[in-house]
Amino acid sequence: ATDDLVDTFGRVARDLRVSLTDRCNLRCEYCMPPEGFDWLPTAEVLSDAEVVRLITVAVERLGIREVRFTGGEPLLRKGLENIVAATTALRTDTGEVPETSLTTNGLGLEKRAAGLAAAGLRRVNVSLDSLDRETYATIVRRDRLPDVLAGIDASEAAGLTPVKINAVLMRGLNDAEAPDLLAFALRRGFELRFIEQMPLGPPEMWKRGEMITAGEILERLRTRFTLTAHDPGERGAAPAERWTVEPTEDTPGGTVGVIASVTQPFCGACDRTRLTADGQVRTCLFSRTETDLRGLVRSGASDAEIAELWRVAMWGKKAGHGIDDPGFLQPQRPMSAIGG
Ligand code: GTP
Ligand code: 5AD
Ligand code: SF4
Repeated sequence: ATDDLVDTFGRVARDLRVSLTDRCNLRCEYCMPPEGFDWLPTAEVLSDAEVVRLITVAVERLGIREVRFTGGEPLLRKGLENIVAATTALRTDTGEVPETSLTTNGLGLEKRAAGLAAAGLRRVNVSLDSLDRETYATIVRRDRLPDVLAGIDASEAAGLTPVKINAVLMRGLNDAEAPDLLAFALRRGFELRFIEQMPLGPPEMWKRGEMITAGEILERLRTRFTLTAHDPGERGAAPAERWTVEPTEDTPGGTVGVIASVTQPFCGACDRTRLTADGQVRTCLFSRTETDLRGLVRSGASDAEIAELWRVAMWGKKAGHGIDDPGFLQPQRPMSAIGG
């Protein structure tokens, strides 16, 4: 439609990613320094009503059909259930309930999965980088593996399925564990996705040469599993490239994904727009500019005015992330403040 969020490359945004807080109760090495970052002052964070207002504009006026809640850690947001319920009460341009999902570290999910499902949430993606309690505690700097596993169980029981598991592999920490993580996911019927580490964490943390690449991940998995690539035609705008995994003696078959944002960018098919916890539109994780919607909302702007500024923002979306360009600069804000 003419009011869709289109960019100069003809991509249309259908997927809104909403960061509900920049705070987190873990300190994953690839994401945050041990002391955390300087969090956003509370007054700058959108209220529940403000978040819902902006989601409503996106769904009702801008052609958004899927809403993903992220953080930081979105479960730290007390109003999450209410925000989900308000989102699922909306109808998209095609007359459907917007698809909702949550990307979370899983802490606190054990208690809240059923309530989130009742609020209309469809599914969850849970970060799980290791099944070994000590390795997990080293990577996330907190000894919380049992809580995460309980959160995953509760999500499955609540029907927040398919449960997807995100694992970032780090050399010398959990890279050798890749086949074990896959065996666990296959046995439980979860879709595991291995993610290439991106330059979005603590400054100076990311080294291109040390990153575990998609090629290396597949090589490791093939020491134990037989993988067949899915038809590229079914991928659409999904960041994960998927493989069918043959059953082995002690695991059923299934699917595994690799999100190769660095070595095989999927920017050309990107259908995302982003809203930060402090009400800034970002056209990409790697944008160097943001567009302030909070100011508009707080100065009494109309829905039409907000929609118009959002469209203007998307018109500035770049072709790609530019990680390989000479002079590439990491975005001014880390992923936890942008939204994962
Ligand atoms: P579904 O498969 O539909 O559940 O979505 P998803 O894979 O996008 O969701 P999730 O939030 O779990 O994100 C998984 C990973 O994809 C993140 O850890 C990021 O590494 C990567 N990712 C998410 N959004 C973007 C993006 O806009 N650009 C790039 N390059 N990577 C992204
Ligand atoms: N590179 C790639 N993925 C990351 N995540 C967090 N930081 C990074 C990074 N620098 C992942 C988390 C979580 C998702 C939201 O993003 O593991 O699964
Ligand atoms: Fe928290 Fe997610 Fe960052 Fe880990 S990756 S510190 S869970 S925001």
